[in-house]
Amino acid sequence: MITEIKHPLIQHKLTLMRKKETSTKDFRELLDEIAMLMVYEVTRDFPLKEIAIETPVAPCKSKVLVEENVVIVPILRAGLGMAGGVLKMFPNASVAHIGLYRDPETLKPVEYYSKMPSDIDKRTLIVVDPMLATGGSSSAALTLLKNKGASNIILMCLVAAPKGVEVVTKDHPDIPVYVAAIDERLNDHAYIVPGLGDAGDRIFGTF
Ligand code: PRP
Ligand code: URA
Repeated sequence: MITEIKHPLIQHKLTLMRKKETSTKDFRELLDEIAMLMVYEVTRDFPLKEIAIETPVAPCKSKVLVEENVVIVPILRAGLGMAGGVLKMFPNASVAHIGLYRDPETLKPVEYYSKMPSDIDKRTLIVVDPMLATGGSSSAALTLLKNKGASNIILMCLVAAPKGVEVVTKDHPDIPVYVAAIDERLNDHAYIVPGLGDAGDRIFGTF
């Protein structure tokens, strides 16, 4: 289940991120803003419940989210760049972390860290990572979360390659995947073309 979010504001900001001359500061700010905008779309069908409140004028029933404290799961490192934007929309969220890096030789994900709340089986998880390239990292993160009991999971990425979409939707057909763009292809180093380069390096200025 893949959804490409084509909102003009997101497309505009993504173009600015792609430009090679965009500074680390601007790149980080744009990613934060896009993550916030993507959450708007991702949560479109989140359930609501009615509660009784009093306005300064009168008592009334009004709607709130059933689940306010979702779990945001950035895939380290680059996923951290999207976590802040999601947190702004869900200030009571927990933040779990999954540390994965892509081995430059094998291109396979290597896990080096994970820390999450004990009740992830009862909560909605929003996994964030800007890049869905071969799909190895996101697919491994989803498997890890499922093995720990989570079942209500959403994956939110910024830029995807067709290969990454294919892998993650095949490995995890039950998981809704949201992206802002599906690019042309992967190059020989499994970088997304045209993509935006190395997201982690551009967020953290580690060139
Ligand atoms: C990048 C990116 C994804 C992964 C995508 O992380 O943030 O996690 O690559 O590639 P894949 O779909 O082929 O697995 P990277 O391994 O460069 O680590 P970093 O975030 O620490 O820079
Ligand atoms: N990871 C990145 O940061 N960029 C890519 O294009 C592919 C993987």
